[in-house]
This record gives sequence, C-alpha cells and structure tokens, in this order.
Amino acid sequence: MNDSRNVTVIGLQWGDEGKGKIVDALARRSRYVARYCGGANAGHSVNVAGERFALHLIPCGILHEGVCNVVGNGVVFDPACALDEVHHLRERGVKVSGANLRVSKAAHLVMPWHKREDILREGRMGDGKIGTTARGIGPCYADKAHRSTALRVGDMLDLAVLRERITAVAAFKNAAFAALYGADPLDPAAIADEYVGYAEELREMIGDTGSLLRRAIAQGEPILFEGGQGSMLDIDHGTYPFVTSSFVTACGVAPGTGVPPSAVGRVVGVIKAYATRVGAGPFPTEQANETGHYLRERGREYGTTTGRPRRCGWFDAFAVRYAADLSGVHEFALSLLDVLSGLDEIRVCTGYRVGGQVLEDFDPVVMAAAEPVYETLPGWAEEIGSARSYADLPANAQRYVARIEELLGRSVGTIGVGPDREQLIAHNTQLEGLR
Ligand code: GDP
Ligand code: IMO
Ligand code: MG
Repeated sequence: MNDSRNVTVIGLQWGDEGKGKIVDALARRSRYVARYCGGANAGHSVNVAGERFALHLIPCGILHEGVCNVVGNGVVFDPACALDEVHHLRERGVKVSGANLRVSKAAHLVMPWHKREDILREGRMGDGKIGTTARGIGPCYADKAHRSTALRVGDMLDLAVLRERITAVAAFKNAAFAALYGADPLDPAAIADEYVGYAEELREMIGDTGSLLRRAIAQGEPILFEGGQGSMLDIDHGTYPFVTSSFVTACGVAPGTGVPPSAVGRVVGVIKAYATRVGAGPFPTEQANETGHYLRERGREYGTTTGRPRRCGWFDAFAVRYAADLSGVHEFALSLLDVLSGLDEIRVCTGYRVGGQVLEDFDPVVMAAAEPVYETLPGWAEEIGSARSYADLPANAQRYVARIEELLGRSVGTIGVGPDREQLIAHNTQLEGLR
C-alpha cells in the first residue's frame, strides 16, 4: 500500500482559514479530492484568474481537469444546495458529471425539516444560541445518530422507497414540530416530488466512494482530503457546545470517507495570521475594537456562506498548537499575512491565565474564563501582496513568521499574501505541489 503521497488539508482555528486556496494549489497533483466532514455550512473560496468561486459542498478539486471529486460518507449532503452549485459551475464553464463528481451513497441527506429545525431550535435558545449557519447540519447529524428518522443518499436510488421514506419521516417531523414549536406542517408530497427530481439528476454521481478511494490507495493514486470548518469547531475537541456536529480534524478522514487512518498522509494545517470566528462561543483573543475592525475590513471577513461579519482577534498560538497536536500536523499553510500590513504592533497569544495561574496544558473548556498572555511583535507598513518569495517580505513580517514557527514547533510551509492563486509563497514546505 502506498499512500505516502496523500495529503490532508485542515483548518486549525474556527474555520475560514483559507483551506480552499490551499486545496486548489494542491489539487493539481492529486487524482482525487475528497470531503469528509460537515456539509453546506462550509464555504471555501478559490480565486482563479480574477474569478472567485465559493464552494460549499463540492470539493475544490472540481476546478481542475482530471481530478475526481468525492463527497464522502461523513458529509451531510443537501441535494438542493449541491445541484445549485453544479448548475452555477456549469454556467461558468466548469464540467461537472458523474465522471468527476462522486457522492457517497452512505452520506446522509439534509432534508427541509433539518433546515427548519435548525432555525426553530436556535430561535428558542436565547443566550444558549450557537449561531449556526442554518443549513440543517446539527439536526441532520442528530438524525444520523437516531437512525430511524434518517435518509441517506443511497435512498435516492429507488424512487418508490424514497417517496415512502419521505412520507413516513415527514409525518413524524410534523407531529414533533407542532408539539414543540407550534409550527405549521410541511407538505410530504411536495418534498417527495422535490427529492425525486434531485434523485433523477444526481443518480449518475451516486456510488460507493469508500471502495473507490480504497482502490485508489491500493493503486498508489494520490488523494487529497479537504477538511471543512476548523479544529476548534470539532464536536469532541472544540469549544463545545459552540461547535459544529462533525469530526473536522484529520482524525475524521478515516470514518468520514471509509479509508484506513494511514491514508491521511501528510497533514497541512491552515492557519490565518490572526484569528476569526463566526457565531457564538468563547474567543479569548477577540478584539471587539478598532483592531478587530481593521482586520475585518482588510481581510474582508464576512462569511462565505452566510455573509455574517466574522469576529476578529489576535493569533492564538496556544490554541493552534493544541489543534496541530490533535491532528499530527506536519506543516502549516499560513494565510492572509498581507492583512496585517499597516499595524504598528502585532500581538500573539502564547498562553492563558485562568484565576491568576498560567495554564500548562490547553483545554478548550477553560477558554471562556481565560485571559490571554500576549507577546508583542513589531509590525510592518508595506503592502506585501506582490511578494513571491520569503526574501521579498519585510524583515518584521519574516520575524512574525519565524516566531510562529518557534511557538508552534513546526514549519510554515507556505505563506499567503493575497486571495489569488499566485499570491502564495513557498517557504519551508515538503510538498511538491506547493514548491
Ligand atoms: P476556507 O473556508 O478555509 O476555505 O476559507 P474562506 O474561503 O471561507 O475564507 C478565506 C478568505 O480569505 C477567502 O475570501 C479567500 O479568498 C481569502 N484568502 C485566502 N488566502 C488569502 C491570503 O493569503 N490573503 C488574503 N488577503 N486573502 C486570502
Ligand atoms: P469552513 O469550511 C466558519 C460555525 C458556525 C457556528 C458553528 C455551528 O468554511 O471553514 P453549524 O451550521 O455547523 O451547525 O454551525 O460552526 N461554522 C463555521 N464557521 N467556517 C465554517 O466552514 C463553518 N462551518 C460551521 O458559524 O458557529
Ligand atoms: Mg469558509
């Protein structure tokens, strides 16, 4: 078995680290690009020749010819959203068919009642609101765990069975929503018609993607696993309960695609040069002030999926080191370094103080009560968007990168200096596709 050429790209903060751009850069040397977690809550942007693509469910490898894109079983698949994306891509000249897009028949289907429940629940939660993307993610994964009220992509292969299942589950959901929220009933027949339509269009793309990927591994064909969200949003290892509902670290690759853990390959942890978070939950280094505003405007920090302004703050090296350890990260892809230009000073969080004590070990649970310990580094005035090598960066920008490597104990492989494909500096990377 030769899976040493595989790469897994994951986010190490709260999502939106710039994974899409790195996946795009690596997709060229991959035969497969596979998503393994989350669903349409993700929004991965790729800029190609001045054109911007925002992908939610379809892997970013779709923009490369000869790459087979896989939506793994660990993804919750919203067919309405996926087809919308497929149509938009085709309108822009990107070929999408069963030849370059394969959807796992074991992936769970996001249904209209999941999106409805997401909104109804959040509306009831008051201060406990998570600030979800309203894409039905949590309710769909909850049904996956419940089993008896779940539908999977494979259920779309038999239209009679699909109708039957939708009718039965819709009746159950209508009763539950009426009792819990006093909500009006959904129309089961209309939902069945809608999903039969999706099934007809998607049929050629549905299959057993686990065996497809395992065969690729046996034949030594390189696979790129595209993470969604960020490690601090992981259902188990993130800032619970303010997290998403899936296994988003590199540890989620195996269960989310049906490959052995050894297939994960080289792990690239994408980190933003500062920090952002969308939705509720602890964020010790948040700057709800001028600095936060500066970062938001320069970094265009508004959600790719929901358009919500992202909360912004300083880089949290203590949290990122934990996330890197969790996934066995080999190297970092440092993104959005250009956003920091123009700041006199840049702060980096190196640890937390809780109740006056500096913590030894990171624990996401203490984040809400943590006071960050900062180190201050000098900033730089120059714009760096046209830098193409490390030597082109101002001395203080180099100093910032070097300090991050020291604090995190691993190399920064690449440095992002702008959203475009070309705005990527190869630094200490071991990956051929990035050099
Ligand atoms: P993802 O969810 O991790 O793929 O990240 P998003 O696409 O949601 O958000 C990252 C944003 O930053 C997108 O608008 C990217 O086009 C942009 N981006 C990525 N890398 C860089 C960079 O190095 N500099 C700048 N200025 N923007 C970047
Ligand atoms: P990408 O892949 C940023 C956040 C939501 C919310 C929490 C739970 O683009 O990095 P959910 O809808 O998943 O139940 O919401 O998780 N969230 C993300 N934040 N980027 C993402 O994906 C996210 N996916 C979910 O904002 O706080
Ligand atoms: Mg995003």
